[in-house]
Amino acid sequence: MSINSSLRIRQAQILLPNGEFLVGDVLLQNGSIVQVAADLSAASIDKEVDATGLTLLPGVIDPQVHFREPGLEHKEDLFTASCACAKGGVTSFLEMPNTRPLTTTQAALDDKLQRAAQKSLVNYGFFIGATADRLPDLIQANPTPGIKIFMGSMHGALLVDQEAVLEKIFAYGDRLIAVHAEDQERIAQRRQEFAGSTDPAIHSTIQDNQAALNATKLALRLSKQYQRRLHILHMSTAEEAELLRQDKPAWVTAEVTPQHLLLNTEAYQTIGTLAQMNPPLRSAHDNEVLWQALLDGVIDFIATDHAPHTLEEKAQPYPNSPSGMPGVETSLPLMLTQAMRGRCTVAQVANWMSTAVAQAYRIPNKGAIAPGYDADLVLVDLNNYYPVQRADLQTKCGWSPFEGWNLTGFPVVTIVGGQVVYDHGTLNTNVRGQALRFDA
Ligand code: DOR
Repeated sequence: MSINSSLRIRQAQILLPNGEFLVGDVLLQNGSIVQVAADLSAASIDKEVDATGLTLLPGVIDPQVHFREPGLEHKEDLFTASCACAKGGVTSFLEMPNTRPLTTTQAALDDKLQRAAQKSLVNYGFFIGATADRLPDLIQANPTPGIKIFMGSMHGALLVDQEAVLEKIFAYGDRLIAVHAEDQERIAQRRQEFAGSTDPAIHSTIQDNQAALNATKLALRLSKQYQRRLHILHMSTAEEAELLRQDKPAWVTAEVTPQHLLLNTEAYQTIGTLAQMNPPLRSAHDNEVLWQALLDGVIDFIATDHAPHTLEEKAQPYPNSPSGMPGVETSLPLMLTQAMRGRCTVAQVANWMSTAVAQAYRIPNKGAIAPGYDADLVLVDLNNYYPVQRADLQTKCGWSPFEGWNLTGFPVVTIVGGQVVYDHGTLNTNVRGQALRFDA
């Protein structure tokens, strides 16, 4: 089907912008949603999707992924990652700058945009990475959702852990700053203290709650000092959630990953280094407090931090095993399964995984099923449960920390720009996404 044709989704349970559901039809034309109504059977169309029994949600916008291209394509590339997105109902992604070369210049950003235009089945945006010495690049780079600062858990030029440098970045310009908030000095010191242990569980002790809290406090302080738009990536601790609950300026947002909500340090016993990530998994108490913060709006949305490494790399003993786990294929069913258990509503999941992300990053025309919005949609099946299985995965790394979990809400059909990119288990690899725009 070409980008200019029309498509009718028939008799879906449609999530409306007001959070209510309508059983009805949606008409897509030229990449946009043109009509939503109980019955559009009279419209003349090129193609129809029968959605009887399925639920239609706005396509997921995953605002933190590491897709490894260029430079680390043995782990993942923009084609394989975007296939995983299409299968997971992720119709847009925002990707991080720790590729090779680092995405710290307009030229590196342009290169990624060009690669994605050729290879990505879904829509894409790329962060610009902060370094100590390239301030003008940070405010001039375009298009980008914002500036990524690794305050910790990084090495080389992307590590920006000196307060004087951080202050310069916060003081300069006004575009959104997204922080990986961990205190590098504390981590380095505790690494020495616990050196010699090969038990991956020590990772959560070394990079402890205090390390995350210290950095989040510093980022908040600088954000307030300069009234600078701040986003706290993958918030992981009860302490940070409580801090934000007490004091969250209107210009600050925060996200949490499904793994920080659903996995904790017990996972090391069953999946070992596959559970190793930065910031690390925490306790069951942290899981609970993060959930409540999300439900209360203290945390604004969800990101996967999809960070694939090969099984061979992960099989090295700690601390040589790399940190990170894949996520784009499992995030939506994980969260919808929680909704079906009554932990939250389906409408809340769609808000956290699409609407609120589009709002925070000012991505126009995305995150809702209404006339005029882009036709980025996912049809999910909330009636059946299936296990997450390694053999089904599209990510090049070929594993998931959630293997064996029995989930509902798997995507059945995913639509990007009005084109069916995934349909009952089959990918349409001819579809290409578009570069996301970010309003000022
Ligand atoms: O666990 C992680 N892995 N956290 C990060 O912030 C980076 C990521 C990676 O790129 O592997």
